Amino acid sequence: MQHDNNVYGATMKLVISGAKATGKSTLARQLGAALGLPVVESDSLVEELYAARHGQRWNCAEIFARGGADVFRALEGEAAETLAARDWCIIATGGSTLLQPEVRQALRRDAVLIVLTAPPAVLWSRVQRIGLPAYVDKDDAQQTFSARAAMIQEVLLPYADVVVDVTSGAPEQLLDELLEKLGAEFAVRCTAPNTFGDVIRATPFGDSHGVAIGCVLDGVAPGTPIDLDEIQHALDRRRPGQSELSTPRKERDQVRILSGVFEGTATGAPICMILMSEDQRPSAYEGLRELFRPGHADFTFWKKYGIRDYRGGGRSSGRETAGRVAGGAVAQQILRARGVQICAYALEIGGIRAQTFDLGAIEHNPVRCPDPLAAQAMAAAILKAKEEKDSVGGIIELRISGVPAGLGDPVFGKLDARLASALLSIGATMGFEIGAGFAVARRRGSENNDAMHDGAFVSNNAGGIVGGISNGNEIVIRVAIKPTSSIEKPQRTIDIHGQNRDVVVEGRHDPCIVPRVVPVVEAMAALVLLDAWEMQTRIRPDWLDAAPAARA
Ligand SMILES: Cc1cc2nc3c(=O)[nH]c(=O)nc-3n(C[C@H](O)[C@H](O)[C@H](O)COP(=O)(O)O)c2cc1C
Repeated sequence: MQHDNNVYGATMKLVISGAKATGKSTLARQLGAALGLPVVESDSLVEELYAARHGQRWNCAEIFARGGADVFRALEGEAAETLAARDWCIIATGGSTLLQPEVRQALRRDAVLIVLTAPPAVLWSRVQRIGLPAYVDKDDAQQTFSARAAMIQEVLLPYADVVVDVTSGAPEQLLDELLEKLGAEFAVRCTAPNTFGDVIRATPFGDSHGVAIGCVLDGVAPGTPIDLDEIQHALDRRRPGQSELSTPRKERDQVRILSGVFEGTATGAPICMILMSEDQRPSAYEGLRELFRPGHADFTFWKKYGIRDYRGGGRSSGRETAGRVAGGAVAQQILRARGVQICAYALEIGGIRAQTFDLGAIEHNPVRCPDPLAAQAMAAAILKAKEEKDSVGGIIELRISGVPAGLGDPVFGKLDARLASALLSIGATMGFEIGAGFAVARRRGSENNDAMHDGAFVSNNAGGIVGGISNGNEIVIRVAIKPTSSIEKPQRTIDIHGQNRDVVVEGRHDPCIVPRVVPVVEAMAALVLLDAWEMQTRIRPDWLDAAPAARA
């Protein structure tokens, strides 16, 4: 699969179809008025196209009867292609039009297909009032019409996203039913972004206080060695209860692989990794059943879905990131075999910044800071905030070495844009900087440009990516992490009825999540890089060879 980086965002339209006399034009007009969207009739476009070509203003029945079926179907195909490119509109089109596979394919692209149905006998009684269609054989009109109406319904129903039975019901009732079904369809489509990646696809699953969490990782080539201990090690670095600086929730987060790995090797099937949750305490959240925690996603989830899991935030909980770490750990193993090293650490916590850089020190202090002295001050700042029933935030720095020049795409597939999107998708990340980051705003070009000499860059203000493509330098990124929103200090909020309330957030929360987000940052970066690498192999098969020297 070649990812298309040249189109940003999809178009969306509502296509209403059905056999003759199902009332599609009427319902399309009502729907257009209700949603404030323009309505286009595919038949009108066919007539316009014919008039433009032949100088004759005929209706569709006349074009069909006089111009012939082939001319008519060709015009329908052309009209469908034109309509397929339209955005946010309602297209009313005949059921016969959609019988042509290429027309159906074009009009279903980025669209919701609404199919109206009714028994052929009902449609026959209506069609006698509004006039017989051109294809009906006059001698045996009822049978021809009914057979065609039945066939249209049989062909279209499997493709329908929304089906409305129009046998009976006032127009307003049918519109209400259609709007309700469209709402349900869009709700499903809106919740779809649960999978990350194009070739390497990670779907982390699970809620804060659910039975289990995990990740399904798809796209890993069969034959790839998978080291379970390494996945567990990454999870251990993220799991709660690692020190007095983190939440006391006791989760062992022991990973089990359910599928996709046989005798330590990927089989090519989706790799399903699961971690049972063992220490849920939903009762601690009882007081939050109707309250929105300031700074957390309670209010926005409520507004979006009209329902929310108040026990730890459900899907918005940081617990969801364990699945990402499991998936990312697999990606990291594959990348390491290709010479890529990914390392993140706490650069700053509670306003205290690392002054020295001993990468070996990172995993030897509870805040994951490369400066052991600063680490002590950071830990003290976290404990102080905890004592004061408050929290602190910080900055995580990510360094990726060994990425050869040439990874990433221009325009919408830029490697830095993908990394930003991945890292900002982690709960509590508020800022993203690459290379010199925001400091470039105060520099001159002569200071900021990375000059080249003897085949290498003299500096790395770009942070390893230029034009969306890696330049071979170390990739250096920083993300800002906000102070944990769930704090025991009393705060003002509102409840689901809009009433002012005070809230004290109980439950077990990290007074600073920075140390636990470090492995999540590494995991997301690994998923982005491996996905980009796999796409690169489609353009440059020589990238399948892991040795960078092989790439010119
Ligand atoms: C590993 C990890 C652990 C987290 N732990 C907590 C926590 O204990 N309490 C809390 O309020 N938020 C926690 N968060 C942050 C929330 O998930 C996040 O603030 C919330 O989903 C709202 O999203 P936003 O901050 O990105 O807007 C954690 C995030 C991560 C990545």
